[in-house]
Amino acid sequence: MRVLGIESSCDETAAAVVEIDVSLSCTLLTNVVASSMDLHVQYGGVVPEIAARSHIESIIPVIDEAVTPVGWDSVDAVAVTYGAGLGGSLLVGVMSARSLSIAKNKPLYAVNHVEGHVYANFITGTSLPGYNLPGSAPAFPCLALIVSGGHSQLVLFRNHFDYTLLGQTQDDAVGEAFDKVAKTIGLPYPGGPSVGKKALEGDAQAFKLPKAKMPHKYDFSFSGLKTAVLRHAQAACGQDFTFPSKLLPSALSDAQKADIAAVFQRVAIETVVDKTIQAYEEFSPASVVIAGGVAASPELRRQLAERLPIEIAYTDPKLCTDNGAMIACLGAFKAKLGQDDRYRPQAPADPYTLDIQPNLSM
Ligand code: KG4
Ligand code: ZN
Repeated sequence: MRVLGIESSCDETAAAVVEIDVSLSCTLLTNVVASSMDLHVQYGGVVPEIAARSHIESIIPVIDEAVTPVGWDSVDAVAVTYGAGLGGSLLVGVMSARSLSIAKNKPLYAVNHVEGHVYANFITGTSLPGYNLPGSAPAFPCLALIVSGGHSQLVLFRNHFDYTLLGQTQDDAVGEAFDKVAKTIGLPYPGGPSVGKKALEGDAQAFKLPKAKMPHKYDFSFSGLKTAVLRHAQAACGQDFTFPSKLLPSALSDAQKADIAAVFQRVAIETVVDKTIQAYEEFSPASVVIAGGVAASPELRRQLAERLPIEIAYTDPKLCTDNGAMIACLGAFKAKLGQDDRYRPQAPADPYTLDIQPNLSM
């Protein structure tokens, strides 16, 4: 069975085709991502209006490029992200998927973007060059740490479509904290890679930053950490809390920026790793996966490898940030198993009525 996945929840317009076989092995056949990131860099974050316009320009060529090598006749279903995400961005993907589902007479599967991120780890084969994929799919029960620009969550999957949200961020997502700290110290957007790169030149123990204590043990909070970085940066250049943050990038030395990047990165990543280890000890899952843009972080992978008693089979960094392959993969599992009564039912969506859900949660 072959499934086309369409993703447009933020600034990436993406489409991919996967094939799922009888043994539930999922192979990536095509994967196309067009990002409008370059248009947002000057604003230090994604501008919803610009992202939506860019999706409109890119969506047809991107879908065409993903489907042409395999041909429409071989596509059995269409899957699309319907939430969570930016309303204007989601609409473009959902409307395109609805139209294609009707015109090509293929069933349509509505996919939760965050759940989709986890399914990047279920893609175990491809003949496309340049991918480093895990050899086998994660075993259940599976503990998933989802860390992106919009989400920070710990989820326990007992089986496909059967999961419990253990905890989540109460304010900023971890990727969002990276993006904001990058802006504070004058590093380019997106902050994850730019802070990670700068951190290599700094001392991760140069000073202390606080870790939030949460009433619920698996919840996260990053807003206090972000404010602590701002206060440290102001103090580091001899100023008090009234010093405007927009002046910090020129007031801080390169060495100060590198230390701030290194300490912030260590503490932010330690925060999510602490909770992952705690959940691992409580639930003894058969596997652990990481998902979302921050899962591409070498520091996250280093800390997990050091502290988790089991090995994680990481997916390719290209499948950690937003892509259509993860959406196609979850859609393929829904199409393959959703009508099997050993699993929770996963009915296809109505292509005439499927609506976006910008605030969809797990
Ligand atoms: O999953 P994603 O592409 O989009 C959302 O669903 O949010 O995640 C984007 C986030 C951004 O905050 C970005 O700074 C972060 O992922 N990110 C990284 C890396 N690459 C992207 N964070 C740390 N290290 C990276 N290499
Ligand atoms: Zn995402």
